[in-house]
Amino acid sequence: MSIWRWSDQLEPVPDAARITLGEGNTPLIRSRVIGPAASLRNLFFKLESGNPTGSYKDRFAAAAISLMVARRQTDCIASSSGNTGAALAAYCAAAGIRCRIAIVETAPAAKLQQMMAYGAEIFRVKGFGTDAAITAQAIAALETLGQQPGHALQISAFKYSPLGMGGVETLAYELAEQCEGELDHVFCPAGGGGLTLAVVRGFAKTKRSPAVHCVQPEGNDTIAGALRGGDDLGRDVACTTAVSGLQVASVIDGHEVIRACRPTGGTGHLVTDEAVWAAQERLAREEGVFCEPAGAVALAGALNALAKREVDREDTLICLVTGSGFKDAGSVEKMNSNTVCPLISVEEIE
Ligand SMILES: Cc1ncc(COP(=O)(O)O)c(C=O)c1O
Repeated sequence: MSIWRWSDQLEPVPDAARITLGEGNTPLIRSRVIGPAASLRNLFFKLESGNPTGSYKDRFAAAAISLMVARRQTDCIASSSGNTGAALAAYCAAAGIRCRIAIVETAPAAKLQQMMAYGAEIFRVKGFGTDAAITAQAIAALETLGQQPGHALQISAFKYSPLGMGGVETLAYELAEQCEGELDHVFCPAGGGGLTLAVVRGFAKTKRSPAVHCVQPEGNDTIAGALRGGDDLGRDVACTTAVSGLQVASVIDGHEVIRACRPTGGTGHLVTDEAVWAAQERLAREEGVFCEPAGAVALAGALNALAKREVDREDTLICLVTGSGFKDAGSVEKMNSNTVCPLISVEEIE
């Protein structure tokens, strides 16, 4: 299965140019413990962690790199907090395209290793991701590189790569199909906001119209606070969250996210990093869902919304679990800090 089953909705690419690694068609599972414990009957998790490189970004990379193949482009220039880079590196490897990626300073080692394993040429940039001015400067430099003949700049945001983001909209088409009953709320983790915007735009092409919510860590409130507070524009911040993937100090798709989410009935939710670690642990221990911290942000937001009575206990809620636990070993070590794995002799087993 691949995103190309939605080819009538995607930018046209000849069959021969379509690169797929089997992305999309990810499971939607009903919460067994966390939902019932909160008296939420219909809490669901969309397991985007099951994509080929471990995050929803494969939907973006499949669309973006296929277009590069169709246009006979040979060099991919990218920026990433880790997951976009891993996805682009994999799809570039499959397509025989050279891939060079500028990465945010704080990206976890596993994401860097994954990109290098696929053969991408990568470099981290000091202050990139956490400082809005440096981030803008880095992106301007990448845009210049991306304009060379045969090159394309790929950043998983509508502002820079709108055609590739069409691939992410397939997430909403799938949810519209998979959810059998009502579909009231979808909670999306947001950094630059491209994912949230893709979900709204995707649903607009279906018969479903859930409230789409934007959830951000308090330490990267570029969109959620403004959306919640009634403002029309997002704002740059000095990023302090430790949640990898959501460290995006500058407004990228933020203004459009606010404009698009509000009419759906969705709002912004801010969560502490501690609430995110707790949600990550609960997903692993109570649901068997192994995700990176960014993948637990939507659940933290949904539980917040429930505590504030902003959702009804009868409503159907979907939380996007956007990335795998294998992406961020440090966060898993933190989760396991009270657990040990002793080395014992065979006699001691009894
Ligand atoms: C796992 C994960 N979830 C969510 C996001 C947020 O996506 P966006 O920056 O489009 O808001 C990212 C972005 O890198 C991510 O890696």
